[in-house]
This record gives sequence, structure tokens and C-alpha cells, in this order.
Amino acid sequence: MVKVWDREAMDRLKAPARLMIVSDLDHTMVDHHDPENMSLLRFNALWEACYRNDSLLVFSTGRSPTLYKQLRKEKPMLTPDITIMSVGTEITYGTSMVPDDGWVEVLNQKWDRNLVTEETSKFPELTLQSETEQRPHKVSFYVDKANAQNVTKALSEIFAKRGLDVKIIYSGGMDLDILPQGAGKGQALAYLHKKFKTEGKLPVNTLVCGDSGNDAELFSIPDVHGVMVSNAQEELLQWHAENAKGNPKIIHATKPCAAGIIQAIGHFNLGPNTSPRDITNLSDFESENISASSEIVKFFMFYERWRRAEIENSELYLASLKADCYSSGILIHPSGAELSLCDAINGMRSYYGDRQGQKFRVWVDRVLSIQTGLDTWLVKFNKWELSGDEQQGCVTTCIINIKKDGVSGATYMHVHETWLEGSGAKDQSTWLF
Ligand code: GLC
Ligand code: MG
Repeated sequence: MVKVWDREAMDRLKAPARLMIVSDLDHTMVDHHDPENMSLLRFNALWEACYRNDSLLVFSTGRSPTLYKQLRKEKPMLTPDITIMSVGTEITYGTSMVPDDGWVEVLNQKWDRNLVTEETSKFPELTLQSETEQRPHKVSFYVDKANAQNVTKALSEIFAKRGLDVKIIYSGGMDLDILPQGAGKGQALAYLHKKFKTEGKLPVNTLVCGDSGNDAELFSIPDVHGVMVSNAQEELLQWHAENAKGNPKIIHATKPCAAGIIQAIGHFNLGPNTSPRDITNLSDFESENISASSEIVKFFMFYERWRRAEIENSELYLASLKADCYSSGILIHPSGAELSLCDAINGMRSYYGDRQGQKFRVWVDRVLSIQTGLDTWLVKFNKWELSGDEQQGCVTTCIINIKKDGVSGATYMHVHETWLEGSGAKDQSTWLF
């Protein structure tokens, strides 16, 4: 039987997604000017604590699979349910990134890649982008701002004359992409919406997020909410001024990148919009209901702050954590060592502040839970730790008891960790959970 966490986007949710976020990556979800990645980490914590179990996360990027995978190595990004790459020309599902062959067929219609390369080679203003960015349904160049409009116009005329229906998109004041007319980020989203609708699972709300030219068409898909992050490029703002001004469902955030996305969730009332990272006293964080996911996120927030000495060095914290552990509960450390949950908590004592003033961040990804008893949950997630320049991860499975009385919170029964392939900690002794 396929377990809940291995099922891919289309099947994981039994009901329509509460929220589907479709976000661009560079300069939207990912802030390249923030080496600490704070707004991305804030978004991650919010998503995992409050949305992962009943919502869909979709990344829609201009990057090819090669450059997308590279970005994932550089930044603390979550795993999306659906990945749309190469400006809406490649759609893949889940962690294993299974391609949507139906979409490939749609794009093959009326597309002649050779004709595109033949005609574009006649323009000296166009510089071909790297080999990785040339894809079956995407031919990409650099062209400076001064020439962009003229070249686009001339190309459109030539392609029309030769009977080829293409889409030419200018982004970031430098990138020129040529795609089949039916491609693009907007069309890819429309295709997904149609697919979900056929299954009776059209998301209750969709929020699209972007900053540049290739994101514009996301904002023209019917019924979506949209956020242009505060740092949006001129070409997107201009598109908005000419095509969507006065549409109350689209905002230009006052905050940059992922902070702008969180702002939009609040503005449009799409659900909880307070990230656990923004709460000083973590016991104050109440998502709508206490859930296994929010407990996990809160625990690792506490753990990060403890080691960074950003909270008080108080025995009370450890005592309250131990009170949340089943007395004969066991932690299986990724090294294979077994210790009681209480001993594991006690082990934190000597690590208070050991990462103070250092680069040290902890986040969780794909926190998915299934109810296995009246008040028992089986939760599985990936936990990542960035320490200095080294990043390590483990997959954790745990059994958590959540009392329905709303006061007693969660009890950890059993925790089992194994290193994620190729990312085991070199010094296993400083990996506490
Ligand atoms: C990404 C892609 C590039 C594309 C640009 C704009 O940077 O790598 O090929 O031209 O997005 O869509
Ligand atoms: Mg972008």
C-alpha cells in the first residue's frame, strides 16, 4: 500500500486543497539579497505548521530542471507538491518529480523548435543562454532593455509570416524566452486547475506570487488572488498598470519576496498568516487547532533558539518538554543509538548556546501526518539543519498523542530518525534531534 507521504499531489488530498500557492522562485519565494533567508524560513514554518496537510504548494520557475535543482541546494527551500519549470513548459509532480506527459503533448501541437532557432539566429542582438536553459519547448536568449521591444516585434512578425504561433516573453530586463503559444506559467496553471476540477478537487483558493515578466500571465487566470512582491520588476508593474489595474484580487505588496507572500495571505484572508518564527513565546502559538504538524514546527523552533541562545537558559523549558514525553518513549538517533526521550531532552542542557552568533538554522519539510488511533498520529517529515556551511538532514517518523481537550497539547510517544541519503552529519554527536 502506498503511504500517505509517498502519494503525490493529485492523490494526497482527499478534498479540494484549502489553499494552492503558485509561486515564482527567484526574487519571489527566494530572496537573493538575504543571506540569512529569513523570510523564506518564516514562510516555511508557516506552511508546514498550518497548510501542508490540506493545501498545495506549487513552484513555478523560469529555471530549467538543472538550475532548479541547483537552487534547491543553495537555499532552504521546501519540497513543493508540483514543480513547474522552464517558464511553464515542464510540469512535474511530487518529490520524485514525475513529468506530466499530457502537458508535453499539448505543447507539441503547432510547435517547430527548428524554425525558432533558424529565425532567431539572424538577430545579432540576441545572445543564446546556456545550454541547460534550452529546453524542448523553450528557446532562451539575453537581450538588453534597449533592443527588447524592437526584437520582439520583428520576431513576432516573422513567426506570424511563417505560420508559427509562439509566445515571446521578456523578464528581469534581460531574458527573452520563446515558447509555444499554449505554454507559459499562466497556461500551465490553467491546465492544472482544469485537471483538478475534473477530479472535483479545484482548490478553494489559489494565490499566485511573482516579480517579473514571465509571471504576468499568472495574474490573468480567472478567480486567482495575486501578489506582486514589493520588489517586482518594472515590466510586471507596467503589465499590471495596463491590464489589471483596479482588480482588487491583485496586490502590490509592501514587503519583499516571501514576506510579501505572507502579507498577501493575510490581506486576502486565506488562512493563518502568523509564522511560528514571528512568535517570541512559542507557547503562545496556537494554530486553529493544536495539530501534530504545528507541534513539530514549534519544537524545532525552540531547538534552534535554544542552541542559538535566543531564549532564556531555563530548566523550566526542559521540564515542560519532558512533561510532553511519554515516560517510556524512545528516540532512535540516526546513528542507530537508542535513548529514552527524557534523556534526549536532558542532553540538550549542555548544548545551550553552543551555536550562539553562528550560522545555524533548523527547518522541517513535508510534515505529513495520518491519524492512526482516536488521538494518535503518525507523523513523518524531513528535518534539516544548516550549521556553518554544512547542511544535514534526516527523515523522522514519530508517534504523537494529541488530546482533544485542547489543554494538554501533545505527547511524544516514539521518535525514529534516519539520515537522508548522502546528508549524514559528519559529527554525529552534535545532532541532538
Ligand atoms: C530563468 C531561466 C532563464 C529564463 C528566465 C526568465 O532565469 O533560467 O532561461 O530566460 O528565467 O524566464
Ligand atoms: Mg522571479
